[in-house]
Amino acid sequence: MDRIRIRGGNRLNGTIPISGAKNAALPLMIVSLLTPGTLSLSNVPRLADVRLLQRILQNHGIDIMVAGKRAGQNGMMGDVMHLTAREIADTTAPYELVSRMRASFWVLGPLLARCGEAKVSLPGGCAIGTRPVDMHLMAMEKLGAEIAIEGGYVIARARKGLKGAHIAFDKVSVGATHAALMAAVMADGDTVIENAAAEPEIGDVAECLVKMGAKIEGIHTPTLRIRGVTSLSGAEHSVIPDRIETGTYAMCVGMTGGDVLLKDANAGHLAAVFDVMRRAGIGVEAMNEGVRIHRNGHALAPVKVDTSPYPGFPTDCQAQLMALMSMAGGTSMIRETIFENRFMHVQELARLGADIHLHGDTAEVRGVKKLTGAPVMATDLRASVSLVIAGLAAEGETLINRVYHLDRGFETLEEKLSACGADVSRLAGG
Ligand code: EPZ
Repeated sequence: MDRIRIRGGNRLNGTIPISGAKNAALPLMIVSLLTPGTLSLSNVPRLADVRLLQRILQNHGIDIMVAGKRAGQNGMMGDVMHLTAREIADTTAPYELVSRMRASFWVLGPLLARCGEAKVSLPGGCAIGTRPVDMHLMAMEKLGAEIAIEGGYVIARARKGLKGAHIAFDKVSVGATHAALMAAVMADGDTVIENAAAEPEIGDVAECLVKMGAKIEGIHTPTLRIRGVTSLSGAEHSVIPDRIETGTYAMCVGMTGGDVLLKDANAGHLAAVFDVMRRAGIGVEAMNEGVRIHRNGHALAPVKVDTSPYPGFPTDCQAQLMALMSMAGGTSMIRETIFENRFMHVQELARLGADIHLHGDTAEVRGVKKLTGAPVMATDLRASVSLVIAGLAAEGETLINRVYHLDRGFETLEEKLSACGADVSRLAGG
């Protein structure tokens, strides 16, 4: 298993290209189940999760072609992926695949919409919380599906097709909103989705669906109004830049000091994160080419932050903020409101010398003057990158084990950081 070795202490200076968003690319790939035409996605990040979803979709009969790099094309540009679901060969998503990546459960909605039936494994346990799928199932039932749970699988049928409905979610769920939207676009009649998640990735999927012929109003708002159509066509769509990758590298620079352009980043998608970083004393400037992050010598000020659905502070940046605040000049309070168990990084950060105390859903982070390198364990995607942030500022060597978590969501992380002066390398095997 690969490991990442970091020798801390270097400031970051230069340019980091931001990749396409994992959490937009995955549902966009799933959207291809809805049409016999070809969906061509560009700026697709090269990530383990994308490769795994390719396998899952191929299992359903989708023909996938990834175009090679063209002459003169920058190695950091994403892939172009052509997905064609001429026919759905299999409406079952098996446990072996769904249990490895929760987002693959989202095939339920499009399979039902296109084929009138789907058998999708329940995803099972998860390191960051219980993560039920009751709201996904409620949305499918509202749209007229009959749902049964048998042998760990959701068996869904809509013999006469899906029917438009009023779906009001009790709480905001990204996945349930994706599921409801992908199913409703081909249901018979009108659907209203209330309390929909308004994350930019949902907007990106909705915009792609519109290019395919879907009728959707209220995109980027919490109320989506959909008029069902009988068929969708192929389309071309470019994946939005990854806001969580952007926030993560912004915090890397905040931690080490220096001056970095996050190329192609969209500052508008990260207003809450950048607001917190500015309060902490970090320079953030939106520019035409991306976002410039800089800090020179100032001590970091502590902050008080609650995670919340978009446009609030994202749970996917919580671990990274905690690493950053571990060296602030005072005590920060960070409250996690989305997932009840998303604090696995706390004990690992403590191994580097961080002083963090948990009180229920809130972490009290007492800033320390110095972190010291140590071997640590990655536990989930965002937790593992928080260890990278801490390692960049820690004295001596930090060795991060179980790097496959990082590879799920960060493309060529060690190359991007090394190019700006960090001492980060990947050790193969071990
Ligand atoms: C998406 O997960 C993201 N995944 C997560 O990113 C992200 O942390 C999360 O949204 C919140 O922003 C992808 O986009 C692939 P939710 P999702 O449904 O859709 C509860 C990463 O690191 N809930 O919005 O699974 C749930 O338990 C990942 O890239 C129900 O109760 O999250 C949670 O408390 C990790 N019933 C809350 O809603 C349901 O049926 C929000 O979860 C569904 C969810």
